[in-house]
Amino acid sequence: MKKINKLLLSVAIAGLCGGAMAKPVESDNEAWKAKFPNQYDSWASSAETDQIVDLLADDPNLVVLWAGYGFSKDYNKARGHYYAVTDVIQTLRTGAPMNDTDGPMPAACWSCKSPDVARMYQEVGEGNFNDHKFGKWGHEMGNAIGCADCHESGTPKLTLSRPYAERAMEKVDLTFSEQSRDMKAAQTCGQCHVEYYFDKNDHNNVRFPWENGFTAEGAEKYFDSIGFADWTHKISKAPMLKAQHPEFETWATSVHAEMDVTCITCHMPKVTNDQGRKFSKHNVGNALDNFDVACSSCHDSQADLKATLKANKEAINAEKLKAEAIIVRAHFEAGAAWEAGATEAEMKQALTHIRHAQWRWDFAIASHGVHAHNPQEALRLLASAQEIGLQAQAELKKVLTKYGVAQPVAIPDISTKEAAQALVGWDKAKLDAQKEAFLEQRVDKEWPERN
Ligand code: HEC
Ligand code: HEC
Ligand code: HEC
Ligand code: HEC
Repeated sequence: MKKINKLLLSVAIAGLCGGAMAKPVESDNEAWKAKFPNQYDSWASSAETDQIVDLLADDPNLVVLWAGYGFSKDYNKARGHYYAVTDVIQTLRTGAPMNDTDGPMPAACWSCKSPDVARMYQEVGEGNFNDHKFGKWGHEMGNAIGCADCHESGTPKLTLSRPYAERAMEKVDLTFSEQSRDMKAAQTCGQCHVEYYFDKNDHNNVRFPWENGFTAEGAEKYFDSIGFADWTHKISKAPMLKAQHPEFETWATSVHAEMDVTCITCHMPKVTNDQGRKFSKHNVGNALDNFDVACSSCHDSQADLKATLKANKEAINAEKLKAEAIIVRAHFEAGAAWEAGATEAEMKQALTHIRHAQWRWDFAIASHGVHAHNPQEALRLLASAQEIGLQAQAELKKVLTKYGVAQPVAIPDISTKEAAQALVGWDKAKLDAQKEAFLEQRVDKEWPERN
């Protein structure tokens, strides 16, 4: 019944707008099952990647680096697409919006979680959807990332269901309709696995900062030029940027991209069903499991690749920790300088260095799978982060010396997630209790979230 009303509504809106009547978006993944059983089953199997890994507990430096920002409350490793809606509702970052207008997050936080977003854009318009808060649309979000995110309704035809992705691809001369089949397929992933921000001047719509290309430096230059900051750092007061998950960008500048090896080649290879018919594996999980069908045409041994990946990961992790030590120290030094009475003018250069150093560090490590996609780029960015972080320390040393602050500035205990969160001012027990009440009193009663 509810569905029929929505259908009528979208027809009515299309009619009112006087435009060509778009086909209603079929966001219900179940509705695709009968027609495309193999794709559906392999899609549904992404539920098997269900493990929750707490990245703040793994590395409490993150809590300090993101002090004052939602990511320091809660940050887990990505898991299967099947959990996208559940996870965005459950993370402490989205808080406990008990009504449609409560904070903390805007509606755009739904953007990369559900094909219901594509349906709602059609029903109420992109800008109107994003003008609201996150809490406004929970009752509409019944389906995790699925068919209508990447396909025209009821057909295998690929589409960009997010107009902001289409606009961004045009900006870098990758207009969707003009691309090869392989690139179109990769662009379906590039709707979500990218760096983005919410544009306050345009309904808080999602926007990719690609004016200067795909690199971290290009995006930094763009953000600097519009004076954008995601938040003000709690300790250093630096105007910070938070990198999201620039997989498309780090892939686009990789060896594999040069050879037309795309996200789909590795994560969605063609496999064979019981009747010997080929279909694309929609599980989108660990690419290394696909070695025989996805990698063996170019790489000799799965064991060798596994060893390479492990070595890459270790090398990146070592440089990541070095960068973190430098930037964490810079935040505390800046905090000490403010306390000693430093002026904005004296701090400006150091804070800009902190912003840039942390941006490069974040861009490298927030790109999931970068040890496989583009390890050289990650190492390059982490080296740059360390260098700029040391420049921040050098600037701060001048200020601290001027104000007679004892050096080295002491770093408090941040050896556990709990210690670090208490230090940056989060009352974790309170946040958990608010979330629990929200899940029980609102989500369980009013929101359809299936998993
Ligand atoms: C994240 C994007 C994405 C999602 C989600 C997705 N697909 Fe696909 N689908 C693709 C891509 C990419 C291809 C491969 C296209 C190509 O090879 O040109 C594909 C191929 C297909 C095909 C063509 C035959 C084949 O297997 O290659 C069908 C049918 C299909 N998908 C159905 C579905 C159904 C049903 C769902 C939901 C249960 C779904 N897809 C979800 C991206 C997606
Ligand atoms: C609509 C947005 C969206 C699209 C389109 C999308 N993803 Fe994702 N992807 C996500 C989100 C969100 C998560 C994390 C889900 C979670 O942790 O709950 C994720 C997680 C993943 C993971 C980690 C899952 C695991 O099993 O370890 C991989 C790999 C992945 N995506 C690859 C892809 C590929 C390849 C494509 C294109 C075929 C794609 N994604 C398209 C949003 C998207
Ligand atoms: C050359 C093959 C290859 C290509 C091309 C590729 N990936 Fe990956 N991807 C991998 C491998 C291998 C891993 C890491 C597996 C591991 O070490 O656990 C990975 C990891 C990931 C992860 C992190 C999963 C996790 O568990 O943390 C995401 C997300 C992801 N890829 C998305 C993408 C997207 C989106 C694209 C295209 C823009 C892409 N990949 C292109 C092979 C590839
Ligand atoms: C069309 C050929 C092709 C396919 C398919 C392919 N690769 Fe590669 N890959 C290359 C080339 C070429 C290089 C660069 C030379 C080298 O390091 O061997 C490379 C390099 C790599 C590296 C080393 C990166 C580094 O610099 O440390 C990893 C890891 C990797 N590939 C993983 C994979 C995985 C995993 C798959 C399958 C899921 C895959 N590749 C599929 C061609 C391919």
